[in-house]
Amino acid sequence: MKLIGLVGTNSTKSTNRQLLQYMQNHFADKAEIELVEIKDLPVFNKPTNKKVPEIVLEIAEKITNADGLIIGTPEYDHSIPAVLMNALAWLSYGIYPLLNKPVMITGASFGTLGSSRAQLQLRQILNAPELKANVLPDEFLLSHSLQAFDKDGNLVDLEIIQKLDAIFDDFRLFVKITNKLSNAKELLHKEAENFNWESL
Ligand SMILES: Cc1cc2nc3c(=O)[nH]c(=O)nc-3n(C[C@H](O)[C@H](O)[C@H](O)COP(=O)(O)O)c2cc1C
Repeated sequence: MKLIGLVGTNSTKSTNRQLLQYMQNHFADKAEIELVEIKDLPVFNKPTNKKVPEIVLEIAEKITNADGLIIGTPEYDHSIPAVLMNALAWLSYGIYPLLNKPVMITGASFGTLGSSRAQLQLRQILNAPELKANVLPDEFLLSHSLQAFDKDGNLVDLEIIQKLDAIFDDFRLFVKITNKLSNAKELLHKEAENFNWESL
């Protein structure tokens, strides 16, 4: 199984990136997880010629070719980071790499809530007409993320590891099931292509 781990931050030191790196190593025998950064994307400016930058197309192609996507999001002011929203705006501007894509959301925060509000918001965003991803219902929230890893980058709390293991196993099943739901796929794709926020 080939998955993309989308790092939802442009911060050089990030516990959300750390969590995705941990998953990449910890689940190496279950899936190949490639981490993808969004920090170098230009700010979305709705180009009138609908030309999407090459760097966005490269990410879109990786997502299209993957069986599923894991999005790791921090929480800033009860919201997802601007850089993640920016990436999603590009990834829904005349291209549809997330359509029907199985998605697992992870989030880490220094505080107790583990990015729960950002995750909820991300679910709503991923339901937009030109994104329309299939999001796993389970949430993985990592609270107190600064204390969550040892010096080798491994999670220290056994209960948290067990929870992540269980959710990831469910996600692998979800990927297989979702990728079989093909009856409405073509129709949904056409709907997304024909959708236009700006038609008068
Ligand atoms: C401007 C700003 C706003 C934040 N807002 C929230 C918030 O609304 N809820 C929360 O739990 N943590 C909040 N935090 C704490 C972040 O969760 C934490 O700083 C960090 O981004 C965790 O992810 P990271 O290690 O990947 O950067 C905020 C941090 C900053 C800098």
